Amino acid sequence: MSFDNPQYPLVIFTPSGKRGHFAAGTPILTAARQLGVDLDSVCGGRGICSKCQITPSYGEFPKHGVTVAENALTDWNSVEERYDRIRGLPKGRRLGCQACVQGDVVIDVPPESQVHRQVVRKAASDRAIVMDPATHLYYVEVTEPDMHEPTGDFERLGFALRDQWNVDRVTAPLPVMRRLQGALRKGNWTVTVALHKGHRDDSHRILDIWPGFHEGRIYGLAIDLGSTTIAAHLTDLRNGTVKASAGVMNPQIRFGEDLMSRVSYAMMNPGGDVEMTTAVREAINALSVELANEAGIEPRDIMEVVFVCNPVMHHLLLGIDPVELGQAPFALATSNSLSLDATELNLTSTNPAARVFVLPCIAGHVGADAAAVALSEQPGKSEDLVLIVDVGTNAEILLGNTTRVLACSSPTGPAFEGAQISSGQRAAPGAIERVEIDPVSKEPRFRVIGCDLWSDDPGFAAATATTGITGICGSGIIEAVAELRMAGLLDPRGLMGSAGQTGTARMIPEGRTHSYLLHDGSATGGPVITVTQGDIRAIQLAKSALYAGARLLMDEMGVDQVDRVTLAGAFGAHISPKHAMVLGMIPDAPLDKVTSAGNAAGTGARMALCSVAARTEIESTVRQIHKVETAIEPRFQEHFVNANAIPHATDPFPNLAAIVTLPDVSFNTGGGNDAGRRRRRT
Ligand code: FES
Repeated sequence: MSFDNPQYPLVIFTPSGKRGHFAAGTPILTAARQLGVDLDSVCGGRGICSKCQITPSYGEFPKHGVTVAENALTDWNSVEERYDRIRGLPKGRRLGCQACVQGDVVIDVPPESQVHRQVVRKAASDRAIVMDPATHLYYVEVTEPDMHEPTGDFERLGFALRDQWNVDRVTAPLPVMRRLQGALRKGNWTVTVALHKGHRDDSHRILDIWPGFHEGRIYGLAIDLGSTTIAAHLTDLRNGTVKASAGVMNPQIRFGEDLMSRVSYAMMNPGGDVEMTTAVREAINALSVELANEAGIEPRDIMEVVFVCNPVMHHLLLGIDPVELGQAPFALATSNSLSLDATELNLTSTNPAARVFVLPCIAGHVGADAAAVALSEQPGKSEDLVLIVDVGTNAEILLGNTTRVLACSSPTGPAFEGAQISSGQRAAPGAIERVEIDPVSKEPRFRVIGCDLWSDDPGFAAATATTGITGICGSGIIEAVAELRMAGLLDPRGLMGSAGQTGTARMIPEGRTHSYLLHDGSATGGPVITVTQGDIRAIQLAKSALYAGARLLMDEMGVDQVDRVTLAGAFGAHISPKHAMVLGMIPDAPLDKVTSAGNAAGTGARMALCSVAARTEIESTVRQIHKVETAIEPRFQEHFVNANAIPHATDPFPNLAAIVTLPDVSFNTGGGNDAGRRRRRT
């Protein structure tokens, strides 16, 4: 099509810069479509949906070489007047399907009228998401039936979708088919359909149908299904806005805290896998209802669900016995992405025809959660060598740059999420999340979630009266252990000193070991919160596994240092880089090169939910990621043992040494410390 006939008025669209000449009388929506300008429409130009709003600009535009006269567009017509009277059009706006070209004109397409708009980044760590969802609403006018030319209502709906929306190969599940005839007649032969497009082919499926023009919105759930927690974001599929987020503990914990104990449960108890599958699906259904209530929507408006999860959770969600994942060669039933019906997973709190997309797995121990991190953080597009550590019960670790990307998972156990810690708890109001210990007085101060004050600030007691001080969450225990080391209360082997050795009565004897008293709330009926030798041991095990995994990838890459480190995970945003390095969770790096990506797996899930292109991208990306298997790699054990020391037995930490001097202390308490023992894979 040619748009360069200078006899016709020139239409210039911003921000795209696309331009072309169009005959007088051409609707702006038509010009936009012909030029490939991103201008939304649900009603197909019938003046019903208002999605096509544009802002014409008038006056001199030297940059574009045009002058736009006041009469460059046709006057308001009755459709716009009616719409403005009933619903209100923002000042300066026109409906693109009603306003027609009269003369040269500059047309701005506001973000909310763009289908493929970029979701605004709220924080630096948020990834930009270009909206390209699989499910859209379409309004269609369907030809009435004719006795003399018999065709089914569904077939005529298919013709209408093809003619009015250029959509082909449409199917409808039986429950939608059952409501089709009623909707068509009630809507006087107009309906709105929620149409889902398969990302691998051009097939379309009708997920729901409403008589006439449907004003409502459609939503999707992005779910990060972790071993310990299940986090979900209810997202508006038109603009990518997160309407509500919530997390719950994974109820499978009662079958085993770590993944391998869940696999063992399935092996030793016939039907155990089914029990675990039922439990997790019930939790997801409850979470879905909770989110829908919070956002004030109907579960029926949830049209899509995207899952990211590790391989064991992946199999248990799908109802596949995970037994093969418990033994070499750790074969997955399938590593490909999956597109399913929600009913196949017994998801009852969504639209009955909702579609599910499960991200692909990288390998037997490196799952769809790692793939989601790769989608979000894109190590393969980084010029410098980046180490990405997604901290959870199982750590997903990626190392790479534009030349190569490696991945492994490492069995950290749930200590970083506050489990297996004597005063540990989930990150929730009242949990200690920040800790400082004065190196001279050895006195602590801390902050709890839900209060911005430190515990020694005036007003702290009043500010925390409602939540109380209830325990320590993952970031709090990391800081506590690192602060104990910096204050000289903990030696490099991970042993805590006695009151006599350290000069503080806060070191309390506990059997043959010692605990550090962080907070004593017993006078007001609150808990006594200590960091015990057992807690230190649990953190040592977790951080050694994490570091050993990272080191293994560095060996494979042939490097001794990385350019930058990205901390990810549900609480990755809250981990202090300095404390993580003092602890030796991550390899030494310049502190300003250690950043947080927040919940990268969750972000990857949202990207896949909002963008068909992202689904295609991750399917090809996972094929290029080289998996390193920690479970059978002998060097893992060696790295694990060396990483047991705080920060490390052998690896130098020059960047850390430049900013922190760690006290040279040694406490031989005679207490057992079995941190050198390798933990089981979780
Ligand atoms: Fe629906 Fe213009 S396209 S009102």
